[in-house]
Amino acid sequence: MGCRMLCRTTFARPPVRRGGSSTKGPLMRKGVLGVAAVSVAVLASLTACGNDNKDSGSKAQVGVILPDSKTSARWETADRKYLQQAFDAAGIKADIQNAQGDKQAFQTIADQMITSGVKVLMITNLDSGTGKAVIQKAKSQGVTVIDYDRLTLGGGAQYYVSFDNVKVGKLQGEGIAKCLTDKKIVKPVVAYLNGAPTDNNATLFKSGYDGVLKPKFDSGEFVKGPDQAVPEWDNAQAGTIFEQMLTGTPNINGVVAANDGLGNAAIAVLKKQKLNGQVPVTGQDATVQGLQNVLAGDQCLTVYKAIKQEADAATKLAIGLVKGEKGQTNGAVTDPESKSDVPSVLLEPKPIYKENVKDVVADGYVTKSELCTGDYAKLCADNGVS
Ligand code: BGC
Repeated sequence: MGCRMLCRTTFARPPVRRGGSSTKGPLMRKGVLGVAAVSVAVLASLTACGNDNKDSGSKAQVGVILPDSKTSARWETADRKYLQQAFDAAGIKADIQNAQGDKQAFQTIADQMITSGVKVLMITNLDSGTGKAVIQKAKSQGVTVIDYDRLTLGGGAQYYVSFDNVKVGKLQGEGIAKCLTDKKIVKPVVAYLNGAPTDNNATLFKSGYDGVLKPKFDSGEFVKGPDQAVPEWDNAQAGTIFEQMLTGTPNINGVVAANDGLGNAAIAVLKKQKLNGQVPVTGQDATVQGLQNVLAGDQCLTVYKAIKQEADAATKLAIGLVKGEKGQTNGAVTDPESKSDVPSVLLEPKPIYKENVKDVVADGYVTKSELCTGDYAKLCADNGVS
């Protein structure tokens, strides 16, 4: 590809972080342990919160740190699998670990990878502060860093691979507008259940859906309902937050939920009030649960991001860097904090409604057998999932 298009995206600075860290893992108990015990605890927790990946070891050339396994099914079911496959196919030894939402573990894993001599570190940060500390340490040791999926604000990673995240939000905004219009709801009240304020992607998703919906609020076509972020994308907290929203504003007609996990939390609350199906909800990630909610008519749409493409683009970059080549990118984004351009690969998301759930299966992202279980078998058949 000879075309080196420069697509500059401006990232807004995320709002000040709310809520405390949920780091309660063994690493947090360091203070009460002696030095020797600390090393044992660190090693033990690395095994526990890291992975069982047989490739993890001192000679990995690339280190990958995924954020958690609870805020979205994607990290463990899709990202890990596709990254591992791509590294295996290239014969590159990679150490893929998961910080399980623990910022201290994230830093410890990074330290261990840097010490073990990786040439490239690929990270999905838990927040920009810890991400930045890791990037600076890596760079000081000559390790090249790729921000995977989430840009670390002010971090200075050499590369960034993700989707067009403003577009993801735009698809969510268009989706809720379409579903509300289809239901012929006049002046619908729309609530926002946003992603983590510490995740730059959540800021971008919101700017995407706000771009579509704000003009409708301003014109009086739609009415703006409650608007709240979910700390750390915590699905359980999302349920509590949405329950409170619905108590305070019982006439909510639609919910823009930033991903399938948050959407499912809202749907569970709506189910208790027998409102599911009447109140459209959005999502993202095309998880099995999200797709089932779409098939059931409880979720208006999900946004499919072909994680295989993202993993392939990132591994291609990492493998090239290990081999001493210059990384191949197709654009750049401007880090709003440092104002520097970060060479990037940005991929296209796709909206998934009931009618095209079958496309996600055809793409091999989920299988018919995991999606079309129990009551969903008929819904799959009715919607051409084969
Ligand atoms: C990712 C989403 C994911 C969310 C929660 C975001 O940064 O882009 O795909 O659902 O984090 O893990």
